[in-house]
Amino acid sequence: MIELKNISKTFGRDESAVHALTDVSLTIGDGKFFAVVGKSGCGKSTMMNIIGALDKPTSGVVIADGMDLTSLSDDHLAEYRNKHIGYIFQSFYLEPTFTVLENVVMPMLIAGLPRARCERAALDALRKLDLGDKAHKKANQLSGGQKQRVSIARAVVHGPKIILADEPTGNLDSHNGAAVIALLQSIAAEGKTVVLVTHNTEDARKADITVELKDGRIERITENTAYRAAEE
Ligand SMILES: Nc1ncnc2c1ncn2[C@@H]1O[C@H](COP(=O)(O)OP(=O)(O)OP(=O)(O)O)[C@@H](O)[C@H]1O
Ligand SMILES: [Mg+2]
Repeated sequence: MIELKNISKTFGRDESAVHALTDVSLTIGDGKFFAVVGKSGCGKSTMMNIIGALDKPTSGVVIADGMDLTSLSDDHLAEYRNKHIGYIFQSFYLEPTFTVLENVVMPMLIAGLPRARCERAALDALRKLDLGDKAHKKANQLSGGQKQRVSIARAVVHGPKIILADEPTGNLDSHNGAAVIALLQSIAAEGKTVVLVTHNTEDARKADITVELKDGRIERITENTAYRAAEE
């Protein structure tokens, strides 16, 4: 479980200060699928970066499984990120000249795991995402939808508890976008916590809980049980 307690984030200072988040409190329960929505500039990515320990709040605390992330040193934060968090971004961030397999094993190698074990786990993840036959292709030879599936494989391969996806469908057509959302739903169904930033209200309603941000504040938190029950 991750708790944001009275989080504020200000970029810059004095007259150029931007209050990206103001007094945001949110409990992100284990195994839940959260969607974060709101207009451009409302603070979605800032909130994701704080949940994922890529950035620190200006004030407030982030408690992950009882541990105060805001009190950790940069080294311990990096360790926490490598172990517990998988990131998926709009622009994939694959290394274009590396193979698909090399891209997926990279974070595990950085974490110091033995290569043979990393490659087994990576091939396993790629097969699950229907990319088994692409393992030895260069990343820049794939379509957008395939690249995003590789980045999902890379995000889940080391077994993190939390998957953060910041507009993962932003560069995809509707068909590939739907496939990515379905994958995130199945990852959540396996018991992972998924936090998805999206502009697509239909996708947001597929999450368990929708968090609406406005001007850096939480405007509304909606449980989508009724919608999901109607779908089933
Ligand atoms: N590193 C930074 N330095 C200065 N200002 C920043 C920085 N990052 C974000 N901001 C500002 O903080 C506010 C929130 O930005 P954020 O990126 O969180 O919005 P967002 O909701 O993700 O928007 P989008 O939908 O366009 O991705 C914006 O006004 C933005 O300009
Ligand atoms: Mg953003």
